[in-house]
Amino acid sequence: MTIWFGGDYNPEQWDESVWVDDVELMQQAGVSMVTIGVFSWAMLEPEEGTYTFAWLDRVMDSLHAAGIRVDLATATASPPPWLSHRYPQSLPLTETGVRLQRGSRQHYCPSSPDYRRLATRLAGEVARRYADHPALEMWHINNEYGCHVSRCYCETSAARFRGWLMEKYGTVEALNRAWGTAFWSQRYGSFDEVTVPSAAPIFRNPSQLLDFDRFSSDELLGVLREEIAAVRAVSPAVPITTNFMGFFKPLDYWAWAAELDVISDDCYPDPSDPDSPYLAAMTRDLMRSLAGGKPWVLMEQAVGAVNWRPSNAAKPEGMMRALSYQAVARGADGILFFQWRQSERGAERFHSAMLPHTGTESVSWKAVCALGAELQQLGDGLDAPTRSAVGIILDWDSWWGIEQSALPTTIDYLGGVRAWYRTLYDAGIAVDFVNPRSDLREYTAVIVPSLFVAASETLETLSAFAESGGRLLVGYQSGITDAEGRLTPGGYLGPLADTLGVRIDEFFPLPLPGTVADDAVRLAGGRPQEGSGTVWSERLILTGADAVARFASGPLQGHPAITERTAGTGLALYCATLPDEATRTWLIERLLAGTRVLEDAIAVDNGEVVRRGRHRFVISHSPQAIAIELDGAPVDLEPYGVAILDDDGHSVEWEPRA
Ligand code: GAL
Repeated sequence: MTIWFGGDYNPEQWDESVWVDDVELMQQAGVSMVTIGVFSWAMLEPEEGTYTFAWLDRVMDSLHAAGIRVDLATATASPPPWLSHRYPQSLPLTETGVRLQRGSRQHYCPSSPDYRRLATRLAGEVARRYADHPALEMWHINNEYGCHVSRCYCETSAARFRGWLMEKYGTVEALNRAWGTAFWSQRYGSFDEVTVPSAAPIFRNPSQLLDFDRFSSDELLGVLREEIAAVRAVSPAVPITTNFMGFFKPLDYWAWAAELDVISDDCYPDPSDPDSPYLAAMTRDLMRSLAGGKPWVLMEQAVGAVNWRPSNAAKPEGMMRALSYQAVARGADGILFFQWRQSERGAERFHSAMLPHTGTESVSWKAVCALGAELQQLGDGLDAPTRSAVGIILDWDSWWGIEQSALPTTIDYLGGVRAWYRTLYDAGIAVDFVNPRSDLREYTAVIVPSLFVAASETLETLSAFAESGGRLLVGYQSGITDAEGRLTPGGYLGPLADTLGVRIDEFFPLPLPGTVADDAVRLAGGRPQEGSGTVWSERLILTGADAVARFASGPLQGHPAITERTAGTGLALYCATLPDEATRTWLIERLLAGTRVLEDAIAVDNGEVVRRGRHRFVISHSPQAIAIELDGAPVDLEPYGVAILDDDGHSVEWEPRA
């Protein structure tokens, strides 16, 4: 297996004389693949219908001559100025009616027939031109769909939304029922009266909002599908990817991943944020989970600083390498960067690159070359990624639904997911992310941070998982609405209520962080005996479960906060609050008691031990030299050091290039 190594290459920003240097230096750095053409539309089609491929032919040929593979973009990510000049309706409209203008990038309405026609045509032209080019490794469709414009509120989008609703509901009566339009006189007489949820006086219909989120994700997915169809028509065998952005709320990546042959991710952890290692690990695990056995690659990361935060910290020496190995350990088959050569002009002049302004004498260039050399050697011996036994449910419907307004409180959906992930990460337990509609049987334990929107079949699947021997931990605000946003009748949780052995009687959300001196509620009875909870509390009635911790302050003092029930042959835990870190750790131990998962877990301070097949990657995220204890012996690591051990405990050595 080869680990692809390289980055986004934008030769159009440079004189051709520089290209010769580029290729030579790529060889020096061990680059095996570059992504080209992402922002080349204006250069490839300078006016409508006139294509200028000769320059790209030369780039492709010279890369091929140097043995460098190409991830070739369809170049549709940023329409050229002529397009919106000729077709002004292709520009997107914001919720408040502002037409976003050209001069930046991604300024297109996903529903615009002109954008779609021209983008698909370009994708087809590019594919026809290069389908048989020997440098071609894979197709890179568009770029970071939805990154800047994921929803458009223009008339064309509204018409497409109506079409989507007609398809879904068939009749306007069915839509009225699903959306509950008897409320606030919202009843629609025909589909023509339905609009996109642009700015309105106050709260909009929650079911309309949820459907608009689904439509918007589908609409961009339609753009992807059209481009894929144009490419596959002439190049059926070459793998296809588009780059994701980690936990990206606007797009339901479960649906998106199904369209791709290779999953790609762009990941830019903030070097100054001490949480970056676990946050980056979490996105690697999501990508491996989305890939579900297909390859995934880290398509973009920064060598050093980015340029788009208010303040852009650079990566200390070693950090880029450690985070690269973290991706490999968690399943990546490629480590690539944005971008190859640092721009001199344009909005990304100050973004780091593999080849920085400061040139080949720079510290970061040397780090890039060293990593390239190491990965070349590592690739051959790598196994497929290891599956995890613990799954965390990730659900876009719930993410959208729980972050609307006019709800019991303000909940940060991802905050809850992160909290549980963090606990598992700190305990050294490997995690997959799981689509709630998928088969759960392969997991030892499943954690549901919250599943606000859930069809009863989904809740039944979770029940069945526990009843048939699985270990299930469910968090508050789960099973609250059905798939259309209607409250789950009978006190929430649906069929899960019996499995968990609880009934929810009344919500008592806790104060929002920062609004009062103490936003936490005390917990008692757990281990440690005293803990705390934030975000949520509710009055629970036990109908078969035992309370393993109770609220020890606030209006629910003495009431159950965390419950447990032996459900069938499995175990079902319920959390009516977000427990603090120590309580979560205790709960995870309780959930996994007696399983191999706990035996295999290796908790490490300031680092991680991750298994990929026969190898264990021991990675330090510490700026100091540390020793990580593994199998009873210390593994000494330099600052941000990495050791790769095979199953016999032998270290996998590489020969860094001189
Ligand atoms: C990504 C994008 C790249 C570049 C990079 C900068 O969002 O795909 O083109 O802009 O960020 O960090």
